Amino acid sequence: MQIQPRALFPTYVWTTLFDDREAFNAKLVQACYALRDQDPRGVANTNVRGWQSPNTLQGLEAFADINLRIVQVCQRIAESQKFMPNLVFQHQAWVNINPPGASNKIHYHANCHFSGIYYISLKAPECGSIFFRDPRVASRMLTYPATEPTDFTTEEVRLAPEAGRMYVFPGWLEHGVEENLSGEDRVSIAFNVLASPRLPAG
Ligand SMILES: [Fe+2]
Repeated sequence: MQIQPRALFPTYVWTTLFDDREAFNAKLVQACYALRDQDPRGVANTNVRGWQSPNTLQGLEAFADINLRIVQVCQRIAESQKFMPNLVFQHQAWVNINPPGASNKIHYHANCHFSGIYYISLKAPECGSIFFRDPRVASRMLTYPATEPTDFTTEEVRLAPEAGRMYVFPGWLEHGVEENLSGEDRVSIAFNVLASPRLPAG
């Protein structure tokens, strides 16, 4: 007797590692700190003891390259999931600088199809992983008597950060960032992306 599992409504996190990450990040990290110097208070959001910029990177020339890649990656994912052609991809992005001791509370992002994170500078794994909570809310009614978590029984999944890596996931997927236990800043760019049909001309 063969028993085969079939995944229903799978939750994907897509990832890519930039080939040119070293040079790309060397430039980008400077732009991140320059932005913090301009606005040392930043915004208070999900960050605990960290600095977060306003979500305005999409309009800043110093972030043009990463803005382009965010959109390109999300377009490729959308294509793979049979989104309509000729959609307009709008995004908002912001910088997170989590110094030692900083973290991000669990949260999700409303009104966007994709959310994501791009890692620029950090000391892994001590700087803290991003963690995702099981979105199948009803599954929280009971835990499974398993010896170790599997894709099916797990309640939380942690993904290791890596400089040059991007993760993209549905905006509704709850996530947070563990405390930075390294001695260095954890610098990343987070984003939300919305794909909308183009309005007819005229
Ligand atoms: Fe987030």
